[in-house]
Amino acid sequence: MDYPGEHAIRPRVKTYRQTAPKLEQDVKLTAVRSAVIVGVLLPHEDSKILSDDLAELEALLTTLGIVTVGHIIQKRPKLTPSCLIGTGKVEAIRELARDRGATYVIVDRPLSPPQVRNLEEMTKCKVMDRSGVILEIFSQNAKTNAAKTQVEIARLEMMLPRMVGQWTHLHRQGGGGAVGRSDGEKQIEVDRRRARERIAKLKEQLVQIAKERETQRKARRNELKVALVGYTNSGKTTIMNSMTNGDFVAKDALFATLDSNIRTLDPNTRPKLLLSDTVGFIRNLPHTLIESFKSTLDEVLEADLLLVAVDISHENYRAQLETTKTVLAEIGAAHIPVIHVFNKMDRVDDPFLGRILKQAYPGSIAVSAYKQEDMIRLREHVYQFFAANFIRCKLAIPASDRDGVSLVYRTCMILDVSYERQDLAVFDVRMTKSVYQKLAQYRLDDDDTAAALGQ
Ligand code: GTP
Repeated sequence: MDYPGEHAIRPRVKTYRQTAPKLEQDVKLTAVRSAVIVGVLLPHEDSKILSDDLAELEALLTTLGIVTVGHIIQKRPKLTPSCLIGTGKVEAIRELARDRGATYVIVDRPLSPPQVRNLEEMTKCKVMDRSGVILEIFSQNAKTNAAKTQVEIARLEMMLPRMVGQWTHLHRQGGGGAVGRSDGEKQIEVDRRRARERIAKLKEQLVQIAKERETQRKARRNELKVALVGYTNSGKTTIMNSMTNGDFVAKDALFATLDSNIRTLDPNTRPKLLLSDTVGFIRNLPHTLIESFKSTLDEVLEADLLLVAVDISHENYRAQLETTKTVLAEIGAAHIPVIHVFNKMDRVDDPFLGRILKQAYPGSIAVSAYKQEDMIRLREHVYQFFAANFIRCKLAIPASDRDGVSLVYRTCMILDVSYERQDLAVFDVRMTKSVYQKLAQYRLDDDDTAAALGQ
Protein backbone atom coordinates (compact mmCIF):
# COMPACT_ATOMS: atom_id res chain seq x y z
CA MET A 1 0.00 0.00 0.00
CA ASP A 2 1.30 3.48 -0.80
CA TYR A 3 0.79 6.28 1.65
CA PRO A 4 0.42 9.94 0.76
CA GLY A 5 3.63 11.83 0.83
CA GLU A 6 5.74 8.71 1.16
CA HIS A 7 7.56 9.35 -2.12
CA ALA A 8 8.85 12.69 -0.91
CA ILE A 9 10.62 11.23 2.13
CA ARG A 10 14.36 11.01 1.54
CA PRO A 11 16.18 10.96 4.85
CA ARG A 12 19.42 12.94 5.06
CA VAL A 13 21.85 10.45 6.43
CA LYS A 14 24.71 11.50 8.68
CA THR A 15 28.00 11.33 6.87
CA TYR A 16 29.59 8.65 9.04
CA ARG A 17 27.18 6.08 7.69
CA GLN A 18 28.71 3.10 5.93
CA THR A 19 27.03 1.82 2.82
CA ALA A 20 28.01 -1.80 3.31
CA PRO A 21 28.25 -3.70 6.59
CA LYS A 22 31.78 -3.85 7.87
CA LEU A 23 33.46 -7.13 8.38
CA GLU A 24 32.96 -8.36 11.94
CA GLN A 25 35.98 -9.30 13.99
CA ASP A 26 34.58 -12.75 14.48
CA VAL A 27 34.21 -13.64 10.79
CA LYS A 28 36.85 -16.30 10.39
CA LEU A 29 39.02 -15.68 7.39
CA THR A 30 41.48 -18.41 6.76
CA ALA A 31 42.58 -16.70 3.57
CA VAL A 32 41.01 -13.60 2.08
CA ARG A 33 38.70 -14.70 -0.69
CA SER A 34 37.87 -12.20 -3.38
CA ALA A 35 35.33 -11.86 -6.13
CA VAL A 36 34.34 -10.02 -9.26
CA ILE A 37 30.65 -9.12 -9.34
CA VAL A 38 28.77 -9.22 -12.64
CA GLY A 39 25.51 -7.41 -13.45
CA VAL A 40 23.50 -7.47 -16.65
CA LEU A 41 21.25 -4.60 -17.74
CA LEU A 42 18.49 -5.34 -20.23
CA PRO A 43 16.91 -2.53 -22.30
CA HIS A 44 13.76 -2.12 -20.14
CA GLU A 45 15.66 -2.18 -16.84
CA ASP A 46 16.63 0.65 -14.48
CA SER A 47 20.38 1.14 -13.99
CA LYS A 48 19.84 2.57 -10.47
CA ILE A 49 18.07 -0.62 -9.35
CA LEU A 50 20.90 -2.68 -10.79
CA SER A 51 23.58 -0.66 -8.98
CA ASP A 52 21.60 -0.98 -5.70
CA ASP A 53 21.34 -4.72 -6.25
CA LEU A 54 25.07 -4.96 -6.86
CA ALA A 55 25.80 -2.97 -3.67
CA GLU A 56 23.57 -5.38 -1.76
CA LEU A 57 25.30 -8.36 -3.35
CA GLU A 58 28.62 -6.89 -2.22
CA ALA A 59 27.25 -6.64 1.34
CA LEU A 60 26.11 -10.26 1.15
CA LEU A 61 29.61 -11.30 0.07
CA THR A 62 31.15 -9.29 2.92
CA THR A 63 29.00 -11.31 5.30
CA LEU A 64 30.53 -14.44 3.80
CA GLY A 65 34.03 -13.03 4.21
CA ILE A 66 34.50 -12.52 0.46
CA VAL A 67 35.99 -9.20 -0.63
CA THR A 68 34.72 -7.62 -3.85
CA VAL A 69 37.64 -6.51 -6.05
CA GLY A 70 35.79 -5.49 -9.20
CA HIS A 71 32.43 -4.96 -10.89
CA ILE A 72 31.48 -5.59 -14.48
CA ILE A 73 28.16 -4.46 -15.89
CA GLN A 74 27.06 -5.41 -19.36
CA LYS A 75 24.18 -3.79 -21.23
CA ARG A 76 22.58 -6.38 -23.45
CA PRO A 77 19.54 -6.57 -25.70
CA LYS A 78 18.81 -10.06 -24.29
CA LEU A 79 20.38 -12.82 -22.22
CA THR A 80 22.30 -15.55 -24.02
CA PRO A 81 21.48 -19.13 -23.05
CA SER A 82 25.08 -20.39 -23.00
CA CYS A 83 26.56 -18.05 -20.41
CA LEU A 84 24.09 -15.18 -20.00
CA ILE A 85 26.47 -12.54 -21.38
CA GLY A 86 28.56 -12.20 -24.54
CA THR A 87 31.80 -14.15 -24.88
CA GLY A 88 33.82 -10.92 -25.24
CA LYS A 89 32.58 -9.81 -21.83
CA VAL A 90 33.31 -13.21 -20.30
CA GLU A 91 36.89 -12.79 -21.51
CA ALA A 92 37.02 -9.35 -19.84
CA ILE A 93 35.78 -10.91 -16.59
CA ARG A 94 38.45 -13.59 -16.77
CA GLU A 95 41.16 -10.97 -17.24
CA LEU A 96 39.87 -8.75 -14.44
CA ALA A 97 39.63 -11.73 -12.06
CA ARG A 98 43.16 -12.82 -12.98
CA ASP A 99 44.64 -9.31 -12.60
CA ARG A 100 42.99 -8.72 -9.21
CA GLY A 101 43.53 -12.23 -7.85
CA ALA A 102 39.79 -13.04 -7.61
CA THR A 103 38.77 -16.67 -7.32
CA TYR A 104 35.02 -16.07 -7.45
CA VAL A 105 32.72 -14.62 -10.09
CA ILE A 106 29.33 -13.70 -8.66
CA VAL A 107 26.46 -13.04 -11.05
CA ASP A 108 23.43 -11.03 -9.91
CA ARG A 109 20.99 -13.12 -11.93
CA PRO A 110 19.76 -16.69 -11.64
CA LEU A 111 22.10 -19.02 -13.50
CA SER A 112 21.17 -22.39 -14.95
CA PRO A 113 23.54 -25.31 -14.24
CA PRO A 114 25.03 -25.27 -17.79
CA GLN A 115 25.57 -21.50 -17.51
CA VAL A 116 27.49 -21.98 -14.24
CA ARG A 117 29.60 -24.66 -15.83
CA ASN A 118 30.34 -22.67 -18.99
CA LEU A 119 31.24 -19.57 -17.01
CA GLU A 120 33.49 -21.59 -14.69
CA GLU A 121 35.28 -23.14 -17.63
CA MET A 122 35.79 -19.78 -19.33
CA THR A 123 36.70 -17.61 -16.33
CA LYS A 124 38.65 -20.26 -14.36
CA CYS A 125 36.82 -19.06 -11.24
CA LYS A 126 34.14 -20.51 -8.99
CA VAL A 127 30.84 -19.07 -10.19
CA MET A 128 27.77 -18.44 -8.00
CA ASP A 129 24.52 -16.58 -8.48
CA ARG A 130 22.69 -14.49 -5.88
CA SER A 131 20.62 -17.42 -4.57
CA GLY A 132 23.80 -19.45 -4.14
CA VAL A 133 25.36 -16.65 -2.09
CA ILE A 134 22.28 -16.31 0.15
CA LEU A 135 22.20 -20.06 0.66
CA GLU A 136 25.90 -20.02 1.66
CA ILE A 137 25.16 -17.36 4.29
CA PHE A 138 22.24 -19.35 5.63
CA SER A 139 24.46 -22.47 5.88
CA GLN A 140 27.17 -20.51 7.66
CA ASN A 141 24.75 -18.97 10.17
CA ALA A 142 22.55 -22.00 10.90
CA LYS A 143 23.18 -22.90 14.53
CA THR A 144 20.18 -24.84 15.78
CA ASN A 145 18.91 -28.18 14.67
CA ALA A 146 15.86 -26.63 13.03
CA ALA A 147 17.86 -24.04 11.08
CA LYS A 148 20.43 -26.62 9.95
CA THR A 149 17.70 -28.99 8.77
CA GLN A 150 15.89 -26.23 6.89
CA VAL A 151 19.06 -25.03 5.19
CA GLU A 152 20.04 -28.56 4.18
CA ILE A 153 16.64 -29.15 2.59
CA ALA A 154 16.94 -25.89 0.64
CA ARG A 155 20.47 -26.74 -0.45
CA LEU A 156 19.50 -30.21 -1.69
CA GLU A 157 16.44 -28.90 -3.48
CA MET A 158 18.56 -26.31 -5.24
CA MET A 159 21.10 -28.97 -6.17
CA LEU A 160 18.62 -31.41 -7.70
CA PRO A 161 18.14 -29.63 -11.03
CA ARG A 162 21.89 -29.05 -11.19
CA MET A 163 22.39 -32.79 -11.02
CA VAL A 164 20.32 -33.11 -14.21
CA GLY A 165 22.66 -30.56 -15.74
CA GLN A 166 25.69 -32.57 -14.68
CA TRP A 167 24.19 -35.59 -16.35
CA THR A 168 23.75 -33.73 -19.66
CA HIS A 169 27.35 -32.59 -19.35
CA LEU A 170 28.67 -36.13 -18.88
CA HIS A 171 26.32 -37.37 -21.56
CA ARG A 172 27.91 -34.92 -23.98
CA GLN A 173 31.39 -35.97 -22.91
CA GLY A 174 30.45 -39.60 -23.47
CA GLY A 175 29.54 -38.81 -27.07
CA GLY A 176 25.77 -39.36 -26.70
CA GLY A 177 23.78 -42.36 -27.97
CA ALA A 178 24.38 -45.74 -26.40
CA VAL A 179 27.68 -44.65 -24.91
CA GLY A 180 25.84 -41.71 -23.30
CA ARG A 181 24.09 -43.96 -20.83
CA SER A 182 27.39 -43.98 -19.12
CA ASP A 183 28.56 -44.76 -15.62
CA GLY A 184 28.46 -41.02 -14.98
CA GLU A 185 24.78 -40.86 -15.85
CA LYS A 186 23.98 -43.86 -13.64
CA GLN A 187 26.01 -42.39 -10.82
CA ILE A 188 24.14 -39.09 -11.05
CA GLU A 189 20.83 -40.89 -11.01
CA VAL A 190 21.93 -42.71 -7.87
CA ASP A 191 23.01 -39.38 -6.36
CA ARG A 192 19.67 -37.81 -7.22
CA ARG A 193 17.78 -40.68 -5.64
CA ARG A 194 19.92 -40.39 -2.52
CA ALA A 195 19.33 -36.63 -2.43
CA ARG A 196 15.56 -37.18 -2.69
CA GLU A 197 15.66 -39.77 0.09
CA ARG A 198 17.67 -37.41 2.27
CA ILE A 199 15.19 -34.59 1.59
CA ALA A 200 12.31 -36.88 2.60
CA LYS A 201 14.12 -37.84 5.83
CA LEU A 202 14.94 -34.23 6.67
CA LYS A 203 11.33 -33.23 6.02
CA GLU A 204 10.20 -35.91 8.49
CA GLN A 205 12.59 -34.43 11.06
CA LEU A 206 11.18 -31.02 10.32
CA VAL A 207 7.64 -32.28 10.91
CA GLN A 208 8.82 -33.53 14.32
CA ILE A 209 10.44 -30.17 15.10
CA ALA A 210 7.26 -28.40 13.97
CA LYS A 211 5.21 -30.63 16.31
CA GLU A 212 7.41 -29.70 19.27
CA ARG A 213 7.06 -26.04 18.34
CA GLU A 214 3.33 -26.49 18.08
CA THR A 215 3.21 -27.82 21.66
CA GLN A 216 5.24 -24.83 22.85
CA ARG A 217 2.95 -22.52 20.91
CA LYS A 218 -0.15 -24.07 22.47
CA ALA A 219 1.27 -23.31 25.90
CA ARG A 220 1.48 -19.66 24.82
CA ARG A 221 -1.98 -19.48 23.28
CA ASN A 222 -3.40 -17.12 25.88
CA GLU A 223 -0.52 -14.71 25.65
CA LEU A 224 -0.23 -11.76 23.33
CA LYS A 225 2.34 -12.24 20.64
CA VAL A 226 4.30 -9.54 18.89
CA ALA A 227 6.68 -10.53 16.08
CA LEU A 228 9.57 -8.39 14.87
CA VAL A 229 9.93 -8.72 11.12
CA GLY A 230 11.79 -6.77 8.46
CA TYR A 231 14.60 -6.60 6.01
CA THR A 232 17.85 -8.20 7.03
CA ASN A 233 20.12 -5.89 9.08
CA SER A 234 17.27 -3.48 9.89
CA GLY A 235 17.98 -3.88 13.61
CA LYS A 236 15.41 -6.48 14.75
CA THR A 237 17.72 -8.31 17.15
CA THR A 238 19.03 -5.06 18.61
CA ILE A 239 15.45 -3.88 19.23
CA MET A 240 14.61 -7.27 20.75
CA ASN A 241 17.62 -7.07 23.07
CA SER A 242 16.93 -3.49 24.14
CA MET A 243 13.28 -4.19 24.83
CA THR A 244 13.79 -7.43 26.75
CA ASN A 245 17.29 -7.09 28.25
CA GLY A 246 18.20 -9.99 26.03
CA ASP A 247 21.62 -11.08 24.92
CA PHE A 248 20.97 -12.40 21.42
CA VAL A 249 23.79 -11.75 18.97
CA ALA A 250 23.21 -8.64 16.87
CA LYS A 251 25.78 -8.23 14.11
CA ASP A 252 26.41 -5.81 11.32
CA ALA A 253 26.06 -8.76 8.99
CA LEU A 254 23.19 -10.10 6.93
CA PHE A 255 21.04 -12.96 8.20
CA ALA A 256 22.65 -13.13 11.65
CA THR A 257 19.38 -14.56 13.00
CA LEU A 258 17.92 -17.67 11.38
CA ASP A 259 15.67 -18.88 14.18
CA SER A 260 12.85 -17.49 16.21
CA ASN A 261 13.88 -16.11 19.57
CA ILE A 262 11.05 -15.44 22.00
CA ARG A 263 11.12 -13.31 25.13
CA THR A 264 8.60 -11.85 27.53
CA LEU A 265 8.37 -8.10 27.13
CA ASP A 266 7.65 -7.56 30.81
CA PRO A 267 7.09 -10.48 33.21
CA ASN A 268 4.61 -8.45 35.24
CA THR A 269 2.01 -7.61 32.59
CA ARG A 270 -1.22 -9.55 32.23
CA PRO A 271 -1.80 -10.90 29.72
CA LYS A 272 1.86 -11.60 29.12
CA LEU A 273 3.31 -9.91 26.06
CA LEU A 274 5.76 -12.02 24.11
CA LEU A 275 8.20 -10.60 21.59
CA SER A 276 9.79 -12.75 18.88
CA ASP A 277 12.57 -12.03 16.44
CA THR A 278 13.03 -14.14 13.36
CA VAL A 279 14.86 -14.57 10.08
CA GLY A 280 15.25 -11.36 8.05
CA PHE A 281 13.94 -10.85 4.54
CA ILE A 282 15.78 -9.82 1.38
CA ARG A 283 14.98 -9.08 -2.24
CA ASN A 284 14.91 -12.23 -4.39
CA LEU A 285 15.01 -14.55 -1.38
CA PRO A 286 15.29 -17.98 -3.01
CA HIS A 287 11.90 -19.65 -3.03
CA THR A 288 13.27 -22.95 -1.69
CA LEU A 289 14.55 -21.06 1.36
CA ILE A 290 11.17 -19.46 2.05
CA GLU A 291 9.56 -22.88 1.68
CA SER A 292 11.92 -24.61 4.06
CA PHE A 293 11.81 -21.76 6.60
CA LYS A 294 8.01 -21.86 6.74
CA SER A 295 7.97 -23.55 10.14
CA THR A 296 10.25 -20.85 11.59
CA LEU A 297 8.03 -18.23 10.01
CA ASP A 298 4.97 -19.81 11.67
CA GLU A 299 5.90 -17.69 14.66
CA VAL A 300 5.04 -14.69 12.49
CA LEU A 301 1.70 -16.17 11.44
CA GLU A 302 0.70 -16.67 15.08
CA ALA A 303 1.40 -13.07 16.00
CA ASP A 304 -1.32 -10.64 17.13
CA LEU A 305 0.83 -7.73 15.98
CA LEU A 306 3.81 -7.31 13.65
CA LEU A 307 6.51 -4.74 14.31
CA VAL A 308 7.99 -4.10 10.88
CA ALA A 309 11.52 -2.82 11.47
CA VAL A 310 12.85 -0.50 8.77
CA ASP A 311 16.40 0.86 8.59
CA ILE A 312 15.50 4.47 7.84
CA SER A 313 19.16 5.39 7.28
CA HIS A 314 19.32 3.06 4.29
CA GLU A 315 18.79 4.85 1.01
CA ASN A 316 16.63 1.99 -0.25
CA TYR A 317 14.45 1.74 2.82
CA ARG A 318 11.27 2.01 0.74
CA ALA A 319 12.28 -0.86 -1.56
CA GLN A 320 13.25 -2.87 1.52
CA LEU A 321 9.85 -2.19 3.06
CA GLU A 322 8.15 -3.28 -0.17
CA THR A 323 10.13 -6.54 -0.11
CA THR A 324 9.08 -7.12 3.49
CA LYS A 325 5.43 -6.61 2.54
CA THR A 326 5.80 -8.99 -0.41
CA VAL A 327 7.33 -11.74 1.73
CA LEU A 328 4.67 -11.24 4.42
CA ALA A 329 1.97 -11.64 1.77
CA GLU A 330 3.74 -14.71 0.39
CA ILE A 331 3.77 -16.48 3.77
CA GLY A 332 0.12 -15.55 4.42
CA ALA A 333 0.69 -12.87 7.08
CA ALA A 334 -0.71 -9.87 5.21
CA HIS A 335 -3.82 -9.73 7.42
CA ILE A 336 -1.94 -9.22 10.72
CA PRO A 337 -1.95 -5.64 12.08
CA VAL A 338 1.33 -3.82 11.58
CA ILE A 339 3.25 -1.04 13.33
CA HIS A 340 6.11 0.35 11.24
CA VAL A 341 9.19 0.89 13.41
CA PHE A 342 11.58 3.24 11.63
CA ASN A 343 14.89 2.37 13.25
CA LYS A 344 18.43 3.87 13.25
CA MET A 345 17.12 7.43 13.58
CA ASP A 346 20.44 8.33 15.26
CA ARG A 347 22.04 8.02 11.81
CA VAL A 348 19.69 10.48 10.19
CA ASP A 349 20.23 14.20 10.22
CA ASP A 350 16.68 15.51 9.96
CA PRO A 351 14.76 16.78 12.98
CA PHE A 352 11.42 16.66 11.12
CA LEU A 353 11.69 13.15 9.73
CA GLY A 354 9.91 11.42 12.64
CA ARG A 355 6.88 13.66 12.21
CA ILE A 356 6.82 13.26 8.42
CA LEU A 357 6.99 9.49 8.71
CA LYS A 358 4.16 9.47 11.22
CA GLN A 359 1.97 11.26 8.70
CA ALA A 360 2.95 9.01 5.83
CA TYR A 361 2.66 5.80 7.86
CA PRO A 362 -0.13 6.26 10.39
CA GLY A 363 0.54 4.56 13.71
CA SER A 364 4.26 4.30 12.99
CA ILE A 365 7.07 5.18 15.37
CA ALA A 366 10.61 6.41 14.69
CA VAL A 367 13.33 5.20 17.06
CA SER A 368 16.94 4.35 17.59
CA ALA A 369 17.44 0.93 19.11
CA TYR A 370 20.55 2.38 20.75
CA LYS A 371 18.49 4.81 22.85
CA GLN A 372 16.85 3.38 25.93
CA GLU A 373 14.24 6.16 26.05
CA ASP A 374 13.17 5.27 22.48
CA MET A 375 12.76 1.63 23.45
CA ILE A 376 10.58 2.65 26.41
CA ARG A 377 8.47 4.70 23.96
CA LEU A 378 8.20 1.73 21.62
CA ARG A 379 7.10 -0.53 24.46
CA GLU A 380 4.42 2.00 25.44
CA HIS A 381 3.34 2.21 21.81
CA VAL A 382 2.84 -1.56 21.73
CA TYR A 383 0.91 -1.55 25.02
CA GLN A 384 -1.31 1.22 23.72
CA PHE A 385 -2.03 -0.71 20.54
CA PHE A 386 -3.30 -3.64 22.59
CA ALA A 387 -5.10 -1.49 25.13
CA ALA A 388 -7.01 0.14 22.27
CA ASN A 389 -7.95 -3.29 20.94
CA PHE A 390 -8.94 -4.77 24.29
CA ILE A 391 -12.50 -5.40 25.38
CA ARG A 392 -13.33 -3.99 28.78
CA CYS A 393 -16.03 -5.72 30.81
CA LYS A 394 -17.04 -7.03 34.20
CA LEU A 395 -16.99 -10.72 34.98
CA ALA A 396 -18.55 -12.56 37.92
CA ILE A 397 -17.01 -15.97 38.41
CA PRO A 398 -17.98 -18.45 41.11
CA ALA A 399 -14.92 -18.98 43.32
CA SER A 400 -15.44 -22.73 42.90
CA ASP A 401 -14.61 -22.38 39.17
CA ARG A 402 -10.86 -22.42 39.68
CA ASP A 403 -10.09 -22.73 35.97
CA GLY A 404 -12.13 -19.65 35.16
CA VAL A 405 -10.53 -17.58 37.94
CA SER A 406 -7.05 -18.77 36.96
CA LEU A 407 -7.70 -17.90 33.30
CA VAL A 408 -8.57 -14.35 34.34
CA TYR A 409 -5.39 -14.00 36.39
CA ARG A 410 -3.24 -15.42 33.58
CA THR A 411 -4.70 -13.60 30.63
CA CYS A 412 -6.54 -10.44 31.61
CA MET A 413 -5.44 -6.96 32.55
CA ILE A 414 -7.21 -6.67 35.92
CA LEU A 415 -8.38 -3.17 36.73
CA ASP A 416 -10.34 -4.12 39.86
CA VAL A 417 -11.32 -7.25 41.75
CA SER A 418 -13.71 -7.67 44.66
CA TYR A 419 -14.83 -10.67 46.67
CA GLU A 420 -17.83 -9.03 48.21
CA ARG A 421 -19.47 -12.39 48.55
CA GLN A 422 -17.19 -15.25 49.49
CA ASP A 423 -18.30 -17.52 46.67
CA LEU A 424 -18.21 -14.94 43.88
CA ALA A 425 -15.28 -12.99 42.46
CA VAL A 426 -16.15 -9.88 40.48
CA PHE A 427 -13.50 -8.62 38.09
CA ASP A 428 -13.26 -5.43 36.11
CA VAL A 429 -10.93 -6.46 33.28
CA ARG A 430 -9.48 -5.73 29.88
CA MET A 431 -8.87 -8.67 27.58
CA THR A 432 -8.37 -9.70 24.01
CA LYS A 433 -11.26 -10.85 21.85
CA SER A 434 -10.08 -14.47 21.91
CA VAL A 435 -9.98 -14.57 25.73
CA TYR A 436 -13.31 -12.80 25.83
CA GLN A 437 -14.87 -15.62 23.81
CA LYS A 438 -13.79 -18.07 26.52
CA LEU A 439 -15.03 -15.96 29.40
CA ALA A 440 -18.12 -14.37 27.84
CA GLN A 441 -20.45 -16.64 29.84
CA TYR A 442 -19.39 -14.79 33.01
CA ARG A 443 -19.99 -11.35 31.64
CA LEU A 444 -22.08 -9.02 33.74
CA ASP A 445 -23.87 -5.87 32.76
CA ASP A 446 -23.89 -3.30 35.52
CA ASP A 447 -27.45 -4.30 36.49
CA ASP A 448 -26.48 -7.96 36.56
CA THR A 449 -23.50 -7.15 38.75
CA ALA A 450 -25.74 -5.50 41.26
CA ALA A 451 -28.18 -8.43 41.15
CA ALA A 452 -25.39 -11.00 41.49
CA LEU A 453 -24.14 -9.18 44.52
CA GLY A 454 -27.66 -9.00 45.90
CA GLN A 455 -27.64 -5.20 46.02
P1 GTP B 1 19.46 -10.03 10.63
O1 GTP B 1 19.59 -10.99 11.75
O2 GTP B 1 20.59 -10.07 9.69
O3 GTP B 1 18.14 -10.09 9.94
O4 GTP B 1 19.63 -8.52 11.24
P2 GTP B 1 18.73 -7.71 12.26
O5 GTP B 1 17.60 -7.05 11.57
O6 GTP B 1 18.40 -8.56 13.46
O7 GTP B 1 19.74 -6.55 12.65
P3 GTP B 1 20.70 -6.45 13.94
O8 GTP B 1 19.92 -6.17 15.18
O9 GTP B 1 21.61 -7.63 13.93
O10 GTP B 1 21.47 -5.10 13.60
C1 GTP B 1 22.24 -4.94 12.42
C2 GTP B 1 23.29 -3.86 12.67
O11 GTP B 1 22.65 -2.60 12.84
C3 GTP B 1 24.10 -4.09 13.97
O12 GTP B 1 25.43 -3.69 13.73
C4 GTP B 1 23.45 -3.16 14.98
O13 GTP B 1 24.33 -2.75 15.99
C5 GTP B 1 23.05 -1.99 14.08
N1 GTP B 1 21.91 -1.25 14.61
C6 GTP B 1 20.73 -1.75 15.05
N2 GTP B 1 19.91 -0.77 15.48
C7 GTP B 1 20.59 0.39 15.31
C8 GTP B 1 20.27 1.77 15.56
O14 GTP B 1 19.19 2.16 16.05
N3 GTP B 1 21.23 2.67 15.22
C9 GTP B 1 22.42 2.32 14.67
N4 GTP B 1 23.29 3.29 14.38
N5 GTP B 1 22.75 1.04 14.41
C10 GTP B 1 21.85 0.08 14.74
